[in-house]
Amino acid sequence: MSIGIDQIGFFTPNKYVDMVELAEARNVDPNKYLIGIGQKRMSLADSTQDAVSMGINGTLRYLDNIDSAKVGLLVFGTESSVDQSKSASLFVKKALNLAPEVRTFEVKEACFGLTAGIMIARDFVRAHPDQTALVIGSDIARYGVATAGEVTQGAGSISLLISSSPRILDLNDGHSAWSDDINDFWRPNDSAVAMVDGKYSTQVYLDFFKHTFAAYKEQKGWNTQDFSSIVYHLPFTKMGKKANDLAIAGESPEVAEKLVKAFEASKQLSMEVGNIYTGSLYLSLLSLLERGELEPNSLIGLFSYGSGAMAEFYSGNLVDGYQDQLNPRGDQALLDRRKHVTIPEYETIFNAALANPTDGEVLTSDEETGVWYFAGTQNHIRQYRQK
Ligand code: HMG
Repeated sequence: MSIGIDQIGFFTPNKYVDMVELAEARNVDPNKYLIGIGQKRMSLADSTQDAVSMGINGTLRYLDNIDSAKVGLLVFGTESSVDQSKSASLFVKKALNLAPEVRTFEVKEACFGLTAGIMIARDFVRAHPDQTALVIGSDIARYGVATAGEVTQGAGSISLLISSSPRILDLNDGHSAWSDDINDFWRPNDSAVAMVDGKYSTQVYLDFFKHTFAAYKEQKGWNTQDFSSIVYHLPFTKMGKKANDLAIAGESPEVAEKLVKAFEASKQLSMEVGNIYTGSLYLSLLSLLERGELEPNSLIGLFSYGSGAMAEFYSGNLVDGYQDQLNPRGDQALLDRRKHVTIPEYETIFNAALANPTDGEVLTSDEETGVWYFAGTQNHIRQYRQK
């Protein structure tokens, strides 16, 4: 039975920071951010956008195209959780009017959370081929003002529908996983921003890529040349470039050119949005699908990495007619609607969003009509509203 990605929805908040302006404010050569890190802009979430609201908004991008009555599972992957107990997915399920019979919960393993959800969803659909599974990854990457990680922040969500006979990407059986208890990046319960051993994290990412990619090829009996493209978790796009350089080392110029071209297409959306943690790998996939030149039935490799650390390599084949399920103009419009904020404005918005609003305070949003937002807490219960 073929099982895979049938729909992809993307959302990012309505404000952005320009990397040249950020570099100037931090007395850094702009080329360090533009080339050395590989980022042009980053999306900024104000106090009214959180993991839940962005997850709802990402799913709304395609909800009208699917039969909601068939959804039997809703998994929410995030490391920007809004509650220590209640799942973010329950707020989403209510906002989307999904049935009470839906099995729903939240999963966490840093940026690996959405991939974990996909693997659970794949098994669910295999057992219930007439049902579908919604899998959401939604996060705000926060390191703090004037930190080394600042340039690698971002905010957004990716929502996927996993189904039998998928219309975008048919997932292949098998995967190669690799995990280890390490401290490259973490966020203790009492901290609103991540802690990171930055250089070490980039080294572990590459080590885990080498390991899982080699093991996957061996498992499947495939060579690098069999892949028409590889998409990567992109905490910043230079990170993926380094992994792609490892993938093409020793390959023929034709294979190297093919994978470099595909990587260039896959990094475009991340360059604009920044790190969205759980959704980042799938933002790369979306970018490749919308901006790459892909042959029918192309084999696409996916490298998922979550700090702490857990990595997995797996693959899928492109389904004929996949373009009909995408909305590149809508995704571009989502980016174009964002308002530019100056660095002092960004710092104020960023720091305000770190604090919880006073209970009873009603937040208003400057988003467009139809967008869901966090409106504050009433009796410590989170309120979500639609503009
Ligand atoms: P840094 O110390 O600011 O940067 O930290 P650097 O000094 O290493 O420079 C970065 C690059 O810019 C270098 O290139 C420089 O040469 C280059 P590289 O050697 O790496 O190829 N450079 C220039 N290039 C052109 N023109 C110039 C110039 N100057 C310098 N003028 C770091 C960078 C990424 C470590 C920092 O931003 C950070 O800590 N970020 C957060 C951690 C992170 O993203 N880690 C990635 C792997 S872990 C992961 O992916 C998981 C994660 O998503 C979390 C999760 O799983 O939940 C983070």
